[in-house]
Amino acid sequence: MTEKDPSKKLSTESYKGVRDFYPTDLFVQHFMFDTWRKAVQSFGYEEYDASVLENTEIYKAKSGDEIVNAQSYTFTDRGDREVTLRPEMTPTLARMVAARKRELGFPLRLFSIPNCFRYERPQRGRLREFWQLNVDLLTKKPSPRYDVEILQVVSTIMKAFQAKDSDYEIRVNSRAFINALYTDYYELNTEQALAFQKLTDKKNKISAEEFAAEYVKISDKKLLDVNDSSDLTFMKNMPGVKEPLDAILDTVALAKKEGIANIIFDTDIVRGLDYYTGLVFEVKDTDPQNNRALFGGGRYDNLVDIFEGAADESSISGVGFGYGDVAMQNFLESRNLIPPYQAATEILVCVLDDNEATVVYADEVAAELRQTGKNVAVNYTSRKYPDNIKLAEKLGIKNITVIGENEVTEKKFEVKQL
Ligand code: HAM
Repeated sequence: MTEKDPSKKLSTESYKGVRDFYPTDLFVQHFMFDTWRKAVQSFGYEEYDASVLENTEIYKAKSGDEIVNAQSYTFTDRGDREVTLRPEMTPTLARMVAARKRELGFPLRLFSIPNCFRYERPQRGRLREFWQLNVDLLTKKPSPRYDVEILQVVSTIMKAFQAKDSDYEIRVNSRAFINALYTDYYELNTEQALAFQKLTDKKNKISAEEFAAEYVKISDKKLLDVNDSSDLTFMKNMPGVKEPLDAILDTVALAKKEGIANIIFDTDIVRGLDYYTGLVFEVKDTDPQNNRALFGGGRYDNLVDIFEGAADESSISGVGFGYGDVAMQNFLESRNLIPPYQAATEILVCVLDDNEATVVYADEVAAELRQTGKNVAVNYTSRKYPDNIKLAEKLGIKNITVIGENEVTEKKFEVKQL
């Protein structure tokens, strides 16, 4: 250990990629969390939680290379166990569901707002600690109805924040469909299929030339586009592709019937996580300033089965999404959808002199106001009226009561709105 130099002051900066939350920041966080909570509870989702520490092995099975090897905060504890600060909630949820499989009732609707950690380069929309709304529906009988319900929850959340349909798009695809294309049309082996999936995942972050240069290394087949009618007809005529293609087309049609107008079938949506098996989707902000996905999710049929005792008589399939607070806040800020800060403290009681009687009466006034349910702070130190006004403004307190000699003699006080 190096000697501490007492003359050297410590930096006030927080650790890279994490945030401090002052009351004004926490106000915004509470606004988002409360809105999320209310919207998902209206569909019957119940809240759960877990520790931020997880056994590393639960991510190794199915979260994918990037999260496990490049982005995780992993360490060995004093008992030689490999521990990870959760980078996402889905494996924890799958573990919890597998552990109580017999007691839990299905379809099971669950949500949580955990903080997650990923060692990423901090940038717009991405930090190293973020909070993530997780909404998941687990069932022994997967159905397109449930996939569509998850998309309805997405729409309901966006509406709850006063977002318009034109502010965002829900871009959907199907892993089952693209996997069928990879084998039956592109004729890729496992390694090539994974390379193609990764390349597609970063398609909108690289130039068309870079994409083309990478693509020719994987396949020489013409790229197919579902939004081109002749390509679509061609795909419908491929026996192995037809079934998963029809399934995702039916899901899109059902979602539209349920009033989700801004849904788009997009074969470029593949998602980075390995556990998705069916529907995959990303919600995109239509404001080009926020060009990353706002959030995303999909169906995972086999994740619960990786845990002991889970895959006996019937396996459990899940569908859901994760919505990060950083992206959400960017979206709301760019559209002025965050309400102005309001302090929880409603009244500032100001003590105008040092006399014991004044202080005692100010305390009585504060106690009386608290009895009526108000949140009250007392300022014992600023003597001048203008200083008290300035302080109330800085703290965001909307009302003040001044206690001086007159108030003490008359035993009367007045609450003034600023
Ligand atoms: P994901 O795509 O890895 O999926 O993350 C989902 C969302 O979490 C992102 O779209 C973004 O809003 C937020 N997010 C991810 N990483 C960061 C970061 N470094 N900083 C800020 N926000 C971030 C999952 O995590 C899946 N487990 C979601 C899911 C739930 N699928 C089914 N159920």
